[in-house]
Amino acid sequence: MAASKKHSGSNLQKLDKDHHLHPFTDHKDLHAKKSRIITHADGVYIYDADGRKILDGMSGLWCVNAGYGRDELVDAAAAQMRELPYYNNFFQCAHPPSIELAALLKEVSPPQFNRVFFAGSGSESNDTIVRLVRRYWDLLGQPERHTIISRENAYHGSTVAAASLGGMKPMHQQGGLPIPGVVHVEQPYWFGSDRTLSPDEFGLLAARSLEDKINELGVDKVAAFIAEPVQGAGGVIIPPDSYWPEVQRICDEYGILLISDEVITGFGRLGEWFGADYFGIRPDLMPFAKGVTSGYLPLGGVMISDRIADVLIDKGGEFYHGYTYSGHPAACAVAIANLKILQREHLIERIKNDIGPYLQERWLKLEEHPLVGEARMVGLMGALELVENKEPLQRFDEKQGVGTICRDFLVDNGLVMRAVGDTIVAAPPFVLSHEEADEMIEITRRCLDLTQKAING
Ligand SMILES: Cc1ncc(COP(=O)(O)O)c(C=O)c1O
Repeated sequence: MAASKKHSGSNLQKLDKDHHLHPFTDHKDLHAKKSRIITHADGVYIYDADGRKILDGMSGLWCVNAGYGRDELVDAAAAQMRELPYYNNFFQCAHPPSIELAALLKEVSPPQFNRVFFAGSGSESNDTIVRLVRRYWDLLGQPERHTIISRENAYHGSTVAAASLGGMKPMHQQGGLPIPGVVHVEQPYWFGSDRTLSPDEFGLLAARSLEDKINELGVDKVAAFIAEPVQGAGGVIIPPDSYWPEVQRICDEYGILLISDEVITGFGRLGEWFGADYFGIRPDLMPFAKGVTSGYLPLGGVMISDRIADVLIDKGGEFYHGYTYSGHPAACAVAIANLKILQREHLIERIKNDIGPYLQERWLKLEEHPLVGEARMVGLMGALELVENKEPLQRFDEKQGVGTICRDFLVDNGLVMRAVGDTIVAAPPFVLSHEEADEMIEITRRCLDLTQKAING
């Protein structure tokens, strides 16, 4: 029996309040409202303990890409757990699912990647990044080359190293972050700029803040640059076209490692296997997680290019790093089954040629609403910037919490999307049908109206 069936909704809420501290939550606020208990899910819909059906416009946390209710993934986990529920990949051991998944990942990744290092989550993958790039330069006899450059408002996870790589100031303020050797440069957030430059001019300027930082630190101190192809948790910030080619030029020219954090964009969200494919860049490392298993079991990892793997292997010596659940057999079995679903059902091509363009066209039209300063979407990843006035552009006072007001209307009307300040973000499952896309747009339009009425009193 599923755990949720043993208790009524209100009893679950009480137990939750009394015994459970949640991630990224203000508990005073939560206890005033009570938690929403999600009990089951199917396709693109989740259901709460009150029996309400809600379209999941966020794929859980950007991860349930193949949709809910996939028996094939459940069966893959169960079969693997019967055969070999756990064994590790430490001390010269391996098992069939970790090996088979490694080979499959090589098949779908850009050609410079032949190897993977497994972790249990995106944060662990990015912790691995910090250890790995420093180890790489150490092995090359350049131990001074330890600084990793990241970006303001980036999100790379919540462990000490991953949160340090991230550029979220409120996170840094809790716990004395970032750790030494991590610095941040500008994000390519044109809509958030004063918009005196064209998007392409602004994109070049943002990319060149990386070059300026390399010159300021001295190239012999810089190990790597890490970035999400499209910033997700920061508000679905899609860089101007000029941005990524310029970043690639800079990384090539200065010889620093390029890390594409594919935790959200990996495995199809932009209509290509990886964000790096979409933007035509050649990263040296690609941390991933989430969509590799469609969230059915936790798994992360780092795709490691030959440039780095060859040094690690040729120079030898133990890399003192790994996790008990690096390459967990059941998680790997689910990942194999999930990647096969993506391939067999052509779900990534569908984002590129069918549901992606279909939803984008309708989503971008939301910009006609008086509350929407900018609507943007790439693949199945979109944002609506809610503003007080469009021309001249005036944003709401943060304290009004307009994004949260809108988000709450959305959920009450049967659609989960996320509020990042006054930006509403969406990332629906890849299996979204045209009718479900229409439903998303219709509810969003209605809730924009409700939000406008609410703030106008
Ligand atoms: C780009 C990116 N990197 C890393 C992470 C961290 O992943 P996890 O929550 O699995 O640790 C996230 C999570 O949202 C993410 O969006």
